[in-house]
Order: sequence, then structure tokens, then C-alpha cells
Amino acid sequence: MSLKDKNIVLGVCGSIAAYKIASLIRLLIKEGASVQVIMTREATQFITPLTLSTLSKNPVLVDYYDPKTGEWNNHVHLGLHADLMLVAPLSANTLGKFANGLCDNLLSAVYLSAKCPVYVAPAMDLDMWIHPSTTRNIALLESYGNKIIPPGKGELASGLNGEGRLAEPEDIISYLQTDLASNLPLQGKKALITAGPTYEAIDPVRFIGNHSSGKMGYAIANQLLRLGAEVTLVSGPTSLQANSSIRTIRIQSAQQMYDACAQEFAISDIIVMSAAVADYTVQNPADQKIKKKAEDFSIALKKTVDILGTLGQQKTSKQTLVGFALETNNELEHAQDKLKRKNADFIVLNSMQDKGAGFGTDTNKVTILSRDGKTINYALKTKDEVALDISNLIIEHQKSL
Ligand code: CTP
Repeated sequence: MSLKDKNIVLGVCGSIAAYKIASLIRLLIKEGASVQVIMTREATQFITPLTLSTLSKNPVLVDYYDPKTGEWNNHVHLGLHADLMLVAPLSANTLGKFANGLCDNLLSAVYLSAKCPVYVAPAMDLDMWIHPSTTRNIALLESYGNKIIPPGKGELASGLNGEGRLAEPEDIISYLQTDLASNLPLQGKKALITAGPTYEAIDPVRFIGNHSSGKMGYAIANQLLRLGAEVTLVSGPTSLQANSSIRTIRIQSAQQMYDACAQEFAISDIIVMSAAVADYTVQNPADQKIKKKAEDFSIALKKTVDILGTLGQQKTSKQTLVGFALETNNELEHAQDKLKRKNADFIVLNSMQDKGAGFGTDTNKVTILSRDGKTINYALKTKDEVALDISNLIIEHQKSL
């Protein structure tokens, strides 16, 4: 699981191991995370805030109040807006505070306010680490749902040898990645998404296309990625840029979209066909630009391959297949018919009659029909929120298979 775009609050306590945090921050930034460091007063004796603010590209926070700027460091805001909180090194003193609800500095206040997953990487001398009170405090943190990144064995600052040294920065990163991934509902699932319009060439400079922006499909691809799926996006021409962790295959025509999807279909667990595929393509596209001559002009068209329908017939009992329907009249009836005809598990119905729904907008209003006969009407929402609604149905469906 990638740490890219994750907001990480990194707490640093007073411990000789604080020097390793410079490397840890560099690795987190390299992974694409954004890092807000909070140090205890004691930590500033071991490594300077200047070093950590330079590496994290963010001012380091120590106190509730910054006397220089007059700014209040809002612990509730910091705790609520983090995607994860990591405390490394966690000293025996701060461990004791966290375990018992003491709150006498900014770091312990943020800990108490945090709603996100909390990871701690303890560092202390071996006798401190095996003291019954440390064992009890660690067990308390675990009972709160916090994750303990186990300390390593080796030479300690005291000169003694044993367990208690801070886990290496690389090991902390891989612990976070593995743990975050294992909690995601679509971990291990492969998803195939189509998005955007198709362009059917008339000649080298003209095409038949439509107004699809691709926003809905891209929002679904991003959402499924966030939920742990490995995502392949087959996209028609759009100006959108997918997350770099999404494998994006760019195509132009319906036939190219079909070819790309046919390659991926059998290995995909989740298939969402949100592209606005042309129903007809040009029978004989011209090699050269067509010159205007006659007053009347017509182009012979032929049907494109129905990607959803064709792949729907090959669907196995382990796959979840979602189609879209854009209707202008008898919406529910047509969508119901599409659900059956295309052998889909869900049809997401957009009605052109709804304000704020459809092409180019950032919002959408959908009704989702499912194979088991349910019809759910959703309110007008952002496309990201609609993507989450669709993803939640997919998660439930995959669980039921
Ligand atoms: N679709 C597809 N391949 C096509 C056309 C459409 O995969 N050649 C998919 C779309 O991505 C969408 C769904 O089919 O998920 C609905 O598209 P639509 O064009 O409304 O389906 P049709 O059966 O062609 O509907 P109609 O009879 O209204 O034209």
C-alpha cells in the first residue's frame, strides 16, 4: 500500500534514536507522503527542529502556542486531519502518558484527539523495555487499537546489548505499508475500469465523439485504488490524469477499448464500464482528409462491439460487473432491461432529466439497480461521493461471492 498523498503526523520523543528520524522523514517524503512533525521539548535536545522542518518541508511544532508568530497550534485539527499518526521514537515517558491519558504537551494532546490509525515505534534501554510497567503500558496502547512497531535487537546507547532500539526507518516504512494494505477491503482484488468517450475516425482529422469528460470513471478508479484494489483504467481521450499508481491504457476507438478490456477481463475481479462508448463507428474511414464537394454527404456507419454486453456473457461467479446507463425516458425500465441484457450485477443509471447530473459536471445523481432486484436512489452528490457509493456496493458484492 502506497503512502503517497497520506497526511502523516509524526511525533518525535526525547531519545537518542531521534537522530534516525531525519532518514525516516526523507523516506516518507520520497514515498509521496506529507509529513507534519510534532516534537516533545526533550526531543529538541537530540535533533534540531530546523533539521526536521527542512526535511519535512513543514514547520515543526513543539508547543501549543508559537510566541514568535502568535499562532495557536490546534491539536484537535491536527488529530482529525491526519491519515495516520506515527510516533517514533516513542520514549517510556510518552508511552506512559499515552497509556494513562496524561496530556501535558502538544504531542499528547494530538494523540488524544487523533481519530486516524496510530502507530508507535518504541525506543528505550533493554531493562526499561522489559519492565512490567512498560509491558502493561504497551498492552494498554494495543487495547486502544494502536499498532506497535516492534523495537529491534542490538547495541544500545547505554553500551548494553539487547532489545529496545528503534526499528530501522526502512522497517518502519514497510511495517506501515503492509499494515495499511492489510486493512483495506479490496486488498488483493484487481479492478478494470473504462472511462471517457471514444473517438471514431471519419478521416485523419475528423471523428465521431461525445461530450463525456471521463470524470466519473476516473473518480471510481481513484476510489477503488484507495480501497486497496490494483486498478487498470482503459481511458478514451480526456484531459484527466490518473493517479500514478493506476495502470492507465489510453485508447481512441471503441474497438481499441474492447481489445484492451478483453486482455484484462478474465483476470479482473471487479469490472466497471463507465465509458461513453460510441454505438456506431465509420464503416470505411478515409486515409486522406475528405474534401467537400457534393451538397449532401453521408457516412455509412456500422455497429461497434458492445464491450459490456460481450464481456458480460463471459462473466464468472467471482466477478462483479457494473455498467452505466444514460437514459432520457422510461429510465428505470430501460436500465432494468440493460441489467439483464448485459448480464451485469449493477447498472448505475444517470438521468439526463436531473440537474447537475451527466457530462462534464463535478456532481452526479444516480439510481443503482442491482441483479438481486434492489433499486437505490441517491441524492445529488460529488462524483467522488458517488464513486464511494458504487465502491461500497462492489465491496458488499465481492464479500457475498
Ligand atoms: N457500452 C459498451 N460498449 C458499447 C456501448 C456501451 O461497453 N459499444 C457500455 C457503456 O460503457 C455503459 C453501458 O454499456 O456501461 C450502457 O451504454 P448504452 O450505450 O446506454 O447501452 P446500449 O445497450 O447501447 O443502450 P441503448 O440501447 O440505449 O443504446
